[in-house]
Amino acid sequence: MERQDQIAESKQLLAHIAQRTTALADDVYRHNVSDYTCPNQAARERDIFFRKGPINVGLGSLLPNPGDSLTHDWTGVPILIVRQADRSLRAFLNVCRHRGARIAEGSSAATQSFSCPYHGWTYGLDGRLVSRPQDRAFCATGKDASGLRALPAAERHGLIWVCPTPDAAIDIDAALGDLGRDLAGYRLAGYHHYETRVLRKPINWKVAVDTFLEAYHIGVLHAQTLGSILHPNIFSFRPFERNLRLIGPRRSIDTLREQPEEKWDLITHSVVIYILFPNTVLILQGDHVETWHMFPAGNGTDESAMYISLYTPEPALTDSARRHWDRNMDLAIAVVEKEDFVVGAGIQRGFYSGAQDHITFGRNEPGLQHFHRSIKQALGLAETA
Ligand code: FES
Ligand SMILES: [Fe+2]
Repeated sequence: MERQDQIAESKQLLAHIAQRTTALADDVYRHNVSDYTCPNQAARERDIFFRKGPINVGLGSLLPNPGDSLTHDWTGVPILIVRQADRSLRAFLNVCRHRGARIAEGSSAATQSFSCPYHGWTYGLDGRLVSRPQDRAFCATGKDASGLRALPAAERHGLIWVCPTPDAAIDIDAALGDLGRDLAGYRLAGYHHYETRVLRKPINWKVAVDTFLEAYHIGVLHAQTLGSILHPNIFSFRPFERNLRLIGPRRSIDTLREQPEEKWDLITHSVVIYILFPNTVLILQGDHVETWHMFPAGNGTDESAMYISLYTPEPALTDSARRHWDRNMDLAIAVVEKEDFVVGAGIQRGFYSGAQDHITFGRNEPGLQHFHRSIKQALGLAETA
């Protein structure tokens, strides 16, 4: 976040605290329940968001060095991402050009090449086919035409995006708009990947995202877990194209009132939540970064799978550092899994009950309003119920 913006946001948040107010949308928003239950919409989301993309993968430090690679199957498309010798990133379909086997599995470090486990066709980091046993048996098929199928990929501001469709257009700068400058300020490229965990839940993937988009519930649902850490029911809100930023003040923000403005450090005294449209939640948690990547799972509309990653500003080299980050990861997962997603599972079942055909986002829930407006726009759907 840019310095001027930090000061302005700090003042806004202190005023909200003093006046017991929060960021407000112009109006309430009626939101179709069918957005979470309609198989046709789910199919459209899979096609437009999770097939064409782009989707965010995480921070660049998931694969920090040349030769590092990781596979990514969350969209349903087998993707292989590889750090090149010149440190740029390339992405490929993780599909051998001989008979289609997966050529890589999971994360690997300092790889020189990828050898298919089926018959041994071997590909370079750049995806070119470099050798194959009994090459003459395939002489009619030139090696040049048998490289891995490339996918559009981009690395910006320390974050990785991939399109799961070859030849799809990718323009991350346009998708981020002014958010690019905001993200650049965090120098995310310098962070270190600590840990990633996986959750699967009986909720639509958008219910999983929704839980991060308002502060209204913090004083109620999270009264015991977060009530002593955060001021409840206060978020500042700013849209960036289809993305958005929410800032929730920690209770420690009150100490800024005694400090001169030039010493204010909003990041330490807040939780900054970004939606990298459509399915990624990026959170600045004071002294570390947390990401949640939500995906539809199963064949219906009520299952999601997600991975949660924690990134640290320094490598975790000591037991006490690891204990500190483990505690942070455990708290994040415990609050969301045992509180938010338990409520979420009830919400998802309630959607099918016929109780109502729309739900209501209050004026104090502008993040939810912007997220769902953006989803509708991107899918070409009418706005409200
Ligand atoms: S399928 Fe990969 S070498 Fe045959
Ligand atoms: Fe929550």
